[in-house]
Parts: sequence; structure tokens; C-alpha cells
Amino acid sequence: MSAIPKYDRATKSLSLTATSPINIALVKYWGKVHEQLIIPANSSLSITIDQADLCSKTKVELIPTAEGAEPQLRLVLNGKEDKITSRIRSIIELMRERTQGVRAHDDQGHTLTLDASELRTHSLIITSENNFATASGLASSSSGLSCLAFVLSQLYGVSESFPDEYTKFARLGSGSACRSLYGGFVQWHRGFQAIQELTEDSAKVSDQSLARAVELSQESMEWWYNNLSILICVVNPGDAQTYQKDVPSTDGMKITLETSELMKLRLEADLAQKHIDQLTGYLEERDFPKFAELTMKESNQLHAVCLDTYPPIFYMNETSRQIIKTATKLNGQGNIVAYSIDAGFHVFLFTLKENQVKVHEAMSVLPGIDQIIITRIGREGVKLI
Ligand code: DP6
Repeated sequence: MSAIPKYDRATKSLSLTATSPINIALVKYWGKVHEQLIIPANSSLSITIDQADLCSKTKVELIPTAEGAEPQLRLVLNGKEDKITSRIRSIIELMRERTQGVRAHDDQGHTLTLDASELRTHSLIITSENNFATASGLASSSSGLSCLAFVLSQLYGVSESFPDEYTKFARLGSGSACRSLYGGFVQWHRGFQAIQELTEDSAKVSDQSLARAVELSQESMEWWYNNLSILICVVNPGDAQTYQKDVPSTDGMKITLETSELMKLRLEADLAQKHIDQLTGYLEERDFPKFAELTMKESNQLHAVCLDTYPPIFYMNETSRQIIKTATKLNGQGNIVAYSIDAGFHVFLFTLKENQVKVHEAMSVLPGIDQIIITRIGREGVKLI
């Protein structure tokens, strides 16, 4: 997956661009056992969404700094200057530490080589845009931060021979981002067997906390690609008047871990791993009704532990609940639709193509839904363009 940055002779700058999809967890990640290294308390399993419908596109440029001026570090997100968070800074620092220098080419075969110390004297400009509403609970951090971590690692020529390391870089930006590196279904392995095992050697555990594509038979994978339809209900914020969530997931999961007794039981019984194993079986067996039931129960469990958090955290709003009720009615004669909701109020619906119109019709008459995006599984994870 490695690439050679583009060299612009006129400006003496180097650049590289990538795109990355969002992913939605079917078995939820909620809680960390190490805040800085972002080691999750449990493994999770996600589905990648087609980049044609929802993705982040990120360009990174290294530009020579004018004589006497300080090198700049800038982020332009959706056309507006944005702040460089400490997590983004830590990814950049890691790249600067690890780089052995860069070689770039232009179209005519001219080459520019910069060593590691020269790279530090260049300004780094990050320009990122999403083809959907940012920070709306539509998992923009998963696409944006996986894209940034990947494209930076390529720009700095870091870890060409260790594909798994990309997932470590992406994780540093946002845990769920590491699952956007692959298409299809993806498991983020927490990297240790039991909570007690996470003792003194968290750095070693960090190396093992990796995302990998779920391995299904070719036939089963194609069946899901060909038959599964995904409807994303973009829910109106109502009185809240903003798509921004009240409690960011990073804070929310921390308070849940500190205060929820239900969460403790979920971890002790290793329910997430149990659900991952069951779900992987249903995926291989192409069993939509069982896939649907487990997906809905997992989503419910996330919101149950949020309610059990003290003080409680609410992510769903009235419209989200109406969508769940409508899905439950549609499932009266057997499951034809599944819902999944992350730390926001938007609802991801999964149905087989043959039922897409029925599900869409039932949902589109509900008040409070701004838009229903019809999409499908993404075959590709992050990629250079
Ligand atoms: C509810 O990945 O946003 O979407 O690692 O702190 O950045 P940080 O959290 P983040 O959490 C996502 C939580 C979730 C469930 C999931 O995606 O698995």
C-alpha cells in the first residue's frame, strides 16, 4: 500500500492524498484500559460503508518554510481552519520520530530527497473534507482519523513493511478509526486475553491491539456484498439544534467504565467477544435474521450501559426511539431489518435488498428524519488516490 509522494517543482512541496470510509460497529467498542495508547476494554466488530457515499478525503503537504519563519502546522477541515488536537499532534510526532527521510517524484521523473531533519523544517498542511456532515454522529472521526494517520505514514515513508502498524497509528487518532483501514467486516482485537492480563506491559499489549478484516468464505462475503442494503437515517437534532453530541464518546466511555455496574458485568462475562464469535458465524452462514437480532441487542446494550452510567448518558432522541419501534413492528413476522446506533442519535439500518423499499417507506413517513442515505457495504478501506 506504500506510495511515493508527489513533488511539485514550482513550490518545492511534497503532497499525498487518501480517502477513507466510515465504519459502524455491530459489536460496540466502549471503554479503554489504556487512555493514551487507546487499548480497548473489549474487542469490536464493524461493517465498512461504501466510500462513494460517505468518506473523508485528506491531502497532506510538506511545504518549505521561508527563511527565518517558524514551520507551520495547519489543519483545514471542510474549508475552515481547525485546531490540531493533541491526538493528531501525537500521530505527527510519531511520524517525525520514525521517518528515515522521504523521496518524492514529479511527473517528469524529477526527484527530491529530504532527510528526517529537513522534514522538520517544512510546514505541514492538512486539508481534509467529508462528503457528509462532520461531527454529526455519523462516525466522521473513524474516516477522518484513519485517513490522516494512513496518509501521513505514507508521506513520511513510515512502516512500509508492517501493514499492521497502520492500525496502531489510526488508533492513536481515534479507536474506531483503526477499523476503517479495511473493507467488508472488520474486527478490532483488543490485544489481551483478560482484563487481569493488562498489567505492567501495556506497550506490548498495544502492539497486539490490531484491526483485521474478518475472514469469511468468498461465497459468504459476496452474498453480503450483493444482498445487504444499508439505510442511514440522519435524524433531526430537534430542540438540541446541533448534530454535536452532548457527551463526546471519549468522555462517555470513561465515565461508563468508572460508574456502570452493567458495564462491569459486560466485561467480566466477555459478552463482546461472545457476540463477535456468534456474529461471525451468522455472517458465514448468511443468516440475516440472527445477524439482525444480535446487531440490535448489541446496540441496545451500548445504550443500556450509557443509561446505567452515573450521571446517565443519553445519545438517542425521540426520533431514534420511534425508528426502533418501527423496526420492531416490521420484524413482527421475523427479522427483516436491524438497527444500530452509536454515540449519537442517527440510526443505521440493515436490511436485505428485497426489503429495502418496504423499510424505506416505513421510515420515511416518520417525523424528525432529515434524510435517509441508502448505501451498502464498502469493499475498500483507506486508499491513496
Ligand atoms: C459508540 O472511536 O470515537 O462509536 O477512541 O475515544 O476516539 P475514541 O472513541 P471513538 O468511539 C466510538 C464508540 C462507538 C462504538 C464503536 O465505534 O465501536
